[in-house]
Amino acid sequence: MRAYDPALDAGDTGWRDEFCMPPFEGDAGAPGAAYPQVAYFAGNSLGLQPRATAPALQIELDRWAQMGVEGQLSGPRPWKDYHEALAGPAARLVGALPHEAVIMNSLTANLHFMMATFYRPEGRRTKIVMEDIVFPSDGYAMASQARWHGLDPAEHVLRLRPREGEDVLRTEDVVSTIHELGDEVAMVVFSAVNYLTGEWMDMPTITAAGHEVGAIVGWDLAHAAGNVPMSLHEWGVDWAAWCNYKYVNSGPGALAGCFIHERHARNTGLPRLAGWWGTRTETRFRMEPTFDPPPTADAWQVSNPPIFAMTPVQVSLDIFDRIGMPTLRARSLRLTDYLRELLTEVIEGMPPGSLQIVTPEEPERHGSQLSLRFTADIGVLADTLRDLDGVVADTRNPDIIRFAPTALYSSYLDCWRAADALRRRLD
Ligand SMILES: Cc1ncc(COP(=O)(O)O)c(C=O)c1O
Repeated sequence: MRAYDPALDAGDTGWRDEFCMPPFEGDAGAPGAAYPQVAYFAGNSLGLQPRATAPALQIELDRWAQMGVEGQLSGPRPWKDYHEALAGPAARLVGALPHEAVIMNSLTANLHFMMATFYRPEGRRTKIVMEDIVFPSDGYAMASQARWHGLDPAEHVLRLRPREGEDVLRTEDVVSTIHELGDEVAMVVFSAVNYLTGEWMDMPTITAAGHEVGAIVGWDLAHAAGNVPMSLHEWGVDWAAWCNYKYVNSGPGALAGCFIHERHARNTGLPRLAGWWGTRTETRFRMEPTFDPPPTADAWQVSNPPIFAMTPVQVSLDIFDRIGMPTLRARSLRLTDYLRELLTEVIEGMPPGSLQIVTPEEPERHGSQLSLRFTADIGVLADTLRDLDGVVADTRNPDIIRFAPTALYSSYLDCWRAADALRRRLD
């Protein structure tokens, strides 16, 4: 494997200084001990803490201490309107208009909120089309939605598998299944970037295919938000939901995001699960019995937002807004390409089949994540990488370890450390 070239990091530093990098204390004499920080590749699971988060939170805590309930109405950022400032940056993150995005709840909760509005099985049109290699929560959510409507998921939730001997779905197969099912499809819902394989789906083509048969198309952006550039509005996506604790770095269990295309948001008569925060700001505090939603994504909110959970999202979104997804995507590709090249060199030195990159290679089919399949025991391997080499990645049973070099804070040295550690540990 080639040697590490410090010029790579010197010329392309990223924004690492803005993040709290977890320290690493390796055993004296072990190869990883030379590095004071871990090489962090789990930003697709839990992103690192921006240095700006704690001071921003302290401001809100101080406001609470000093103002009590007055903080709702006065000061530079009254809590009553706090969520409104997040809509613009959240929208820009996913290629939406500001009134199409809202920060609220958690991801799976938002999947259910979206399904409550958009999954309306009727007559022949009952089926949900989704992927089989899916994060379990989405699988449970979709099956429970079918049951909620009195339908048997085995019959009404169609889970698409890759072809025999292949790891990832082909767009043509997704499209042809949707076309074959035609007016039986009520909802097409896929993960934009697959949690296990790292495959980035062809979102515009699949969205168009769903619309051709008259279905609603929703996307789970858990692994796509803050990772790959998207144009949800332009692609005509009906709805999307995402979490903000992965690439968006807003902390464990952070508040999630939701996108509702304006052609739906404008329809204030849509059925939904309603609450008082979904009413128009002008009438919300009149405490009237009639639900009066605005023609925006805000209408799907139910409760007043937890400010101490909103602040980390605001801080993180500001970082994305300042740098912009095109710049981040370009750096993500440079890092991911570099890691792939190094891993390919590692694989060349190993017995055939012992290590394989599952994530598609074409740039339009992947984001920051590279998923590796091992014949070795991944639990033991990942523990060794973490404890002895300071390389943090995450395992997905039975045989995958995911490495996500994130554009904001990963370095070329991190990538080199990961590949070098794998080379040594698999020797
Ligand atoms: C694709 C996907 N969907 C859903 C979830 C569940 O998210 P939450 O616990 O925020 O509802 C995750 C969590 O990692 C995920 O990766």
